Amino acid sequence: MSDLFSPFALRGITLRNRIVISPMCMYSAQDGFANDWHLVHLGSRAVGGASLIIQEATAVSPEGRITPGDLGIWKDEHVPFLRRITDFIKAQGSVAGIQLAHAGRKASHRSPWEGADAILPTEPHGWQTVAPSAEPFTPDEPTPHALSVAEIGQVVADFRAATLRSLEAGYEVIELHAAHGYLLHEFFSPLSNHRQDEYGGSFENRIRLLLEVVEATRAVLPEHLPLLVRVSATDWTEGGWTAADTVQLAGILKDKGVDLLDCSTGGNVAKADIPVGPGYQVEFAEQVRRETGLPTGAVGLITDAQQAEAIIASGQADLVLLARESLRDAYFPLHAAHELGTDIAWPNQYMRAKPRL
Ligand SMILES: Cc1cc2nc3c(=O)[nH]c(=O)nc-3n(C[C@H](O)[C@H](O)[C@H](O)COP(=O)(O)O)c2cc1C
Repeated sequence: MSDLFSPFALRGITLRNRIVISPMCMYSAQDGFANDWHLVHLGSRAVGGASLIIQEATAVSPEGRITPGDLGIWKDEHVPFLRRITDFIKAQGSVAGIQLAHAGRKASHRSPWEGADAILPTEPHGWQTVAPSAEPFTPDEPTPHALSVAEIGQVVADFRAATLRSLEAGYEVIELHAAHGYLLHEFFSPLSNHRQDEYGGSFENRIRLLLEVVEATRAVLPEHLPLLVRVSATDWTEGGWTAADTVQLAGILKDKGVDLLDCSTGGNVAKADIPVGPGYQVEFAEQVRRETGLPTGAVGLITDAQQAEAIIASGQADLVLLARESLRDAYFPLHAAHELGTDIAWPNQYMRAKPRL
């Protein structure tokens, strides 16, 4: 029996296996609205057998978008099309998750195929970015506005409202995006937070915003629905956020009702030296799980069935998240089950194509 295809419970939600689609921006929305692209993209991966589909970084406010093409959930009008997506995902036996996000100083950029550079606030479709401190990500980018305490309160309120709309739209898993140099990560990393008030300085102060967002989110989530947090477990940079910080944070998040830590890395330093290779971030998921008992998700260059199976079987993580491999192969879970000799259900419509074991 394959461990990769064993079920996993997060509060009242049971995932049918351990393969999760990692959140991936599609840069294909208009004014935050989802459309047929998102339905087909996310829906295909549910047909493909993943247990949980985490929708791309979905902005809690317009200025929290990385690009003008990001999905959003800052107004009620966004909900009906998202409901169509979650209904379809559920009908395939998958669970619909959403990553709630604020891009902070890395907002207002062009999509990758338009060059990915910053759109100035004075250009069409650009806007003034915000951050813990008035320091740009790179020297050639516009300087962000340092959030006031009142504005920080609004960010927390935006995450809370976005969570309520997510429930309305039918999502059963909420993931907070606190990784990759976006707003929540910018606050807890000492490299981007040079505030002098209660949101800067000490470890406790730097994690304050994330904890406030976790509390506000957890407070409106029904008891049976899980809350996940994605962090960058290290900045890969001297003087930055470290794996030891992540372990300390994970223990605190566990006490606050967070159900799983999705362990990514990097993104807050433009020129960090990252030892990229197969499964290069798995060690962080393993360490957090071992040292805190908090369930973890492993992500990053997980590309084949045996590798994914080994991560789950050896107890390095509870879930594996796939991004690029799932773009190459939307049916990765169906193929992986066959490779591992495990009989799983295929969609009825595709039964005639199911290989015999
Ligand atoms: C097209 C694309 C879009 C992405 N968008 C997001 C995102 O919205 N939120 C996020 O946390 N990570 C995002 N990522 C990072 C992935 O979720 C994942 O962490 C990373 O690609 C490493 O996994 P992989 O080696 O399986 O691709 C994106 C990656 C890709 C390729």
